[in-house]
Amino acid sequence: MSSTLFTPTQFGSLSLKNRIVMAPLTRSRAIGNLPNALMEQYYRWRAEAGLIITEGTSPSPNGLGYARIPGLFSDEQVQGWRRVTDGVHQDGGRIFVQLMHTGRVSHPANLPVGAEIIAPSAVAAPGEMWTDSTGMQPHPVPRAMSEADIAQSIAEYAASAKLAMQAGFDGVKLHGANGYLIDQFLNTASNQRTDRWGGTVDNRIRFAVEVAKATVAAIGAERVGMRISPYGVFNGQVPDAEMDALYLHLIDALNALDLLYIHIVDHSAMGAPAVSPQLKTAIRGAFKGKYILSGGYDAVRADADLDAQRGDLVAFGRPFISNPDLVSKLQSGQEQVAPDFSTFYTPGEKGYTDY
Ligand SMILES: Cc1cc2nc3c(=O)[nH]c(=O)nc-3n(C[C@H](O)[C@H](O)[C@H](O)COP(=O)(O)O)c2cc1C
Repeated sequence: MSSTLFTPTQFGSLSLKNRIVMAPLTRSRAIGNLPNALMEQYYRWRAEAGLIITEGTSPSPNGLGYARIPGLFSDEQVQGWRRVTDGVHQDGGRIFVQLMHTGRVSHPANLPVGAEIIAPSAVAAPGEMWTDSTGMQPHPVPRAMSEADIAQSIAEYAASAKLAMQAGFDGVKLHGANGYLIDQFLNTASNQRTDRWGGTVDNRIRFAVEVAKATVAAIGAERVGMRISPYGVFNGQVPDAEMDALYLHLIDALNALDLLYIHIVDHSAMGAPAVSPQLKTAIRGAFKGKYILSGGYDAVRADADLDAQRGDLVAFGRPFISNPDLVSKLQSGQEQVAPDFSTFYTPGEKGYTDY
């Protein structure tokens, strides 16, 4: 099948061989928070994608809230990721790392010794999370971040972005979505601060903007993107009356930084509420950089949306889990294998490198 999806495109200074993006997918195979040979194989097998975005990867020990997620703040982690990026590049792919600090979505049993659960306010995320040692556990109440903690976290994102360059990544995606640290500052459910980091729209976007600014200063705007999830409800986020204004202010600020791209989360195909189509259109119109679409796409809908200029690239998530050769399958129309949900986050090869 010949279509826009399979045509090359320019992405900052990178030439991508097609407009298919592998969406960031947490897979929890990083034992000891280290990228390993199994992960190298998994990512290499998906190098047909125009761009791979890695699973959420923490810029700080404090951001390793989930079991077995990778980090990017130590020499050992840089070396582990270097093997992954070298492999993907050898196979002709491009790869960005998604920097995800889990903030309050965390549990002490998942964190390394000395790390701490910090968030904008001392408000626990609702619900429970998996720990390898004691099974499902409620999210604890985080410690509200001080000015010094905030400055340190911002610096950690920038330092991690520099390490990403050392590790051979083509760029960095800041995870500003789905109720993790950046989103915890954006949303009133998790941000109840009354200082310059909370309250008004300008105050609530400040952390996202300062993280983006520091990351851009560290590695250059043409290598930095951000994922956002307006109207998202994952991890206890609650839409409020100022949501449209907040995201449009954020887009203005990201424009001023010349950010390479944004990627909006739309999990309506996974049962989440739909994202306001008006806001999506307004963001697409306002943002000057590239725009990645995602959420329940197939080749036909992807082409239709690319041809209608609704976005520049299309990300696929779950289909990539069970179809390492997804790009070929999309192109030939060959039937896809369905993913096994029970092995999304389990350790080892099963459901990871045996599709
Ligand atoms: C197992 C799994 C893990 C995910 N992990 C992440 C993640 O680390 N970061 C992120 O931004 N989104 C994550 N997502 C969301 C996906 O990037 C994507 O938005 C979602 O799967 C919808 O796209 P799809 O319908 O093509 O699967 C995850 C989704 C799944 C199913």
